[in-house]
Amino acid sequence: MGKDVIIALDFPGAAETLAFLDAFSGEKPYVKVGMELFYAEGPAIVRELKRRGHPIFLDLKLHDIPNTVKKAMQVLSRLDVDMCNLHAAGTIEMMEAAREGLTRPDGTRPVLLAVTQLTSTSEERMQRDLLISASINDTIRHYARNAQAAGLDGVVCSPLEAALVKAACGASFLTVTPGVRFADGAAGDQVRITTPAKAREIGSDYIVVGRPITAADDPVAAYRRCREEFVGK
Ligand code: C5P
Repeated sequence: MGKDVIIALDFPGAAETLAFLDAFSGEKPYVKVGMELFYAEGPAIVRELKRRGHPIFLDLKLHDIPNTVKKAMQVLSRLDVDMCNLHAAGTIEMMEAAREGLTRPDGTRPVLLAVTQLTSTSEERMQRDLLISASINDTIRHYARNAQAAGLDGVVCSPLEAALVKAACGASFLTVTPGVRFADGAAGDQVRITTPAKAREIGSDYIVVGRPITAADDPVAAYRRCREEFVGK
């Protein structure tokens, strides 16, 4: 599985999304559809992106009882996306049920990732609000191991956590990391950030990049620069 840049399509609807992608002539970037776009447009936008030839990460972060997640994953597997995810906090049993639901009759399935702790959750909030007394790094390591035990392929985490996940779960366990900014770019609301080159050095397999590309004056040039720094071509 090759390293790649995934563009976060954080747009309110199909019109803005497709207009943005129309600027890419020859390339078919890997794209991420999150809750905003999916709740606005439903499965139709996923089918349209697929029809246009984009690999798709469907970022819906499922978290419910195992049977419900299994059934939901069965439906998502028919959308033929390339990657999807859930919350590791749903337990190993829920993650196993998700993997089973996602597996197609021919045995294939999209890459399945677990969100460990959201990067918006600080250690202090996790301990106070969630009553988890371990450190955030121990929690992330533990959740990543649980995801691996459930047969998942990797985790979504901050690039700063990718190294500890690789150390705990092995080099082939995938790390998909948002929170990426160009060295000369604006951080926005992201706090724990790295550049594409640094994320590559730390060992991220995929970086998820939104505003540094979508809000750039020339998004295609920004995407190419990002790919060049991260993938090296
Ligand atoms: O615009 P920006 O590059 O900050 O976008 C990052 C994308 O990654 C957004 O879609 C955001 O929801 C997502 N994400 C994140 N941090 C996480 C999980 C997902 O920034 N922990």
